[in-house]
Amino acid sequence: MPAVIIDGQQVAERMRSAIAEEAAQFAAQHGFPPGLGVVLVGDNPASHQYVRMKRRACEKAGMASFAAELPQNATQDQVAAAVQAMNDDPRVHGILVQLPLPPQVDEQTILSLVSLDKDVDGFHPLNIGALAMKGRDPLFTPATPTGCMVLLEEVGAVLDGANAVVIGRSNIVGLPVALMLMKANATVTVCHSRTRDMRSVIQRADVVIAAIGKPEYVKGDWLKPGAVVIDVGTNKIDDPGSPQGYRFVGDVEFASAVNVASAISKVPGGVGPMTITMLMVNTMKAAKRRVP
Ligand code: GUN
Repeated sequence: MPAVIIDGQQVAERMRSAIAEEAAQFAAQHGFPPGLGVVLVGDNPASHQYVRMKRRACEKAGMASFAAELPQNATQDQVAAAVQAMNDDPRVHGILVQLPLPPQVDEQTILSLVSLDKDVDGFHPLNIGALAMKGRDPLFTPATPTGCMVLLEEVGAVLDGANAVVIGRSNIVGLPVALMLMKANATVTVCHSRTRDMRSVIQRADVVIAAIGKPEYVKGDWLKPGAVVIDVGTNKIDDPGSPQGYRFVGDVEFASAVNVASAISKVPGGVGPMTITMLMVNTMKAAKRRVP
C-alpha cells in the first residue's frame, strides 16, 4: 500500500489561520500587533528569499515585521548593534537572525545577544542547552525541527520507544530535532557524512528525518517497511522537461520511498511551510509572554 503523503502546506494553512485569529485578538486587546524583527546580513539569495517568505507570512497573519538589512561586509559590532536595537524595541516581540552569517561575524556571539524572551528561532545557547537537558524546557524551540515534530504528530507516529534516525547534524535542523525526538522518548541515532554503512542504520528506523542536503540520497529500499519519513531537504536540480528548467527534490527518493514508507512528507510543500508557521507560533507566544 503506498504511503500516506504528509501535506505540510495543508497543516500550515490550518495553523496560520488560527494564528491570524490570535494576532487579531492580541492587536484588538493591546492596540498593537505581535511583531517579528529580522536581521539579515549579506546577499545570499536563498536567505533573502526565506526572509521575504517569513515576513510576508507574518504580515498576512496580521503581525508586524521589522527588518535590519546589513551588507555582506558588515562588522560584528554593526550586527550586534542591529540585534541590540531590536532587543530594545518594544514593537518587536520576536527576533530572528537569518543564518548563515558572513565569516567575519561570529555566529555564537550574535545568537547569544538575542534577548532570551525574544529568541523565537530558539538558537540562543541557553534555549538549545535547555532543549538538550532532561527535565528542562526551552522557552522556544527552533522552527524547522518543531515543524517536523508537528508533522509526526499529525500522522500519529508513535515516538515512545521507536528507533528514530536523523540524517544530518546541523545546528539548525539535525541536532535540535535529535534532541526533540529524545525528549519524546525515541531511541535516536544521528547519521552524518562520516557515518559508516548509513543504509544499514536507516534500515532499522521506524522514523527517519532526512536533513542532509543531498538530492534523493536515501532510496526506498534503504527504508524499513512502514517507516515514517520526514524529508527536510529542498534541493534544486536541473529538469529540462519543466518550464523553469529546474525542480525541487528532497533528500529522499520519493518515487521509491512512497512504496515502502507508511507516511512520507512532500517536497516541496512538506516541512518548508511548517518552518515559517512555527516561527509565527513562536512570535505569537513571545508577544503573549511580554504582554500577558
Ligand atoms: N537559515 C536556514 N534555516 C534557518 C532558520 O530556520 N532560521 C534562521 N535564523 N536561519 C536559517
